Amino acid sequence: MGSLVLSKGMRGRIDRVLREYHQKAKLEKHGLSHRRKILLAGPPGTGKTLTASVFAGELGLPLFTILMDKIVTKFMGETSAKLRQIFDVVQERRGVYLFDEFDAIGGERSRENDVGEMRRVLNSFLQFIERDDSDSLIVAVTNNPRILDQALFRRFDDVLHYHLPEKSEIRKLVENRLGTFRPKKVELDSGADIAESLSHAEIAQACDDAIKEAILSDRTTITPSLLKQMLNERKSAYGASANQSKTTSA
Ligand SMILES: Nc1ncnc2c1ncn2[C@@H]1O[C@H](COP(=O)(O)OP(=O)(O)O)[C@@H](O)[C@H]1O
Ligand SMILES: [Mg+2]
Repeated sequence: MGSLVLSKGMRGRIDRVLREYHQKAKLEKHGLSHRRKILLAGPPGTGKTLTASVFAGELGLPLFTILMDKIVTKFMGETSAKLRQIFDVVQERRGVYLFDEFDAIGGERSRENDVGEMRRVLNSFLQFIERDDSDSLIVAVTNNPRILDQALFRRFDDVLHYHLPEKSEIRKLVENRLGTFRPKKVELDSGADIAESLSHAEIAQACDDAIKEAILSDRTTITPSLLKQMLNERKSAYGASANQSKTTSA
């Protein structure tokens, strides 16, 4: 899980999933089951999808990603049949099954009257999850915890809430990402101020932008001011898109 930068609390939660999985036989002897149906919730770019691949890597299991959008058709019966096929595979072939942004189902045709249909698909999906008693790890991801109610949370063995990075995480993330391009004197604190309110993914991108700039101008390290500039660019891009989504949702 080297590249994943998380708060201590979150790291502990992820470790617990791994520890329970590794030692599930021990738990079974006492009539207990390991957590294996996990919901990851939080804003985009905070490491949810990355976490699923960390699970697969650490457990030595193949990672399968299910594209929920491709499964949902106009016909509920057909959709359920496809879900059944997937959960048959979950049972037969041990792995990490990532249902990424599972609640974005049918997002493109989400006219008002399709909301009811989306609910039905969601419920069907949750029933499959509830019934599943395989050896696989099921990871469901959502960017939109608002639509998640308590009934939904209860179907999962654990719910992990992701957040935008705090200062210490920002520093760690920047250090990791810049690698050998890191300036000798780490003057990243003012960068950390700028980076607040950016996601892990956006900060990582700003670091990559700074590295590219350094490479193109034949330098072996980046300057703190270059990093600041790239962070500011990400920030204004983010501000623009945030405003945009405000107008579209109004
Ligand atoms: N917590 C994190 N630690 C390190 N890198 C991260 C983290 N979150 C996101 N990233 C970077 O951003 C990319 C996209 O993140 P991703 O896991 O897809 O976010 P999400 O699924 O939450 O939208 C990752 O591949 C990684 O490079
Ligand atoms: Mg994702």
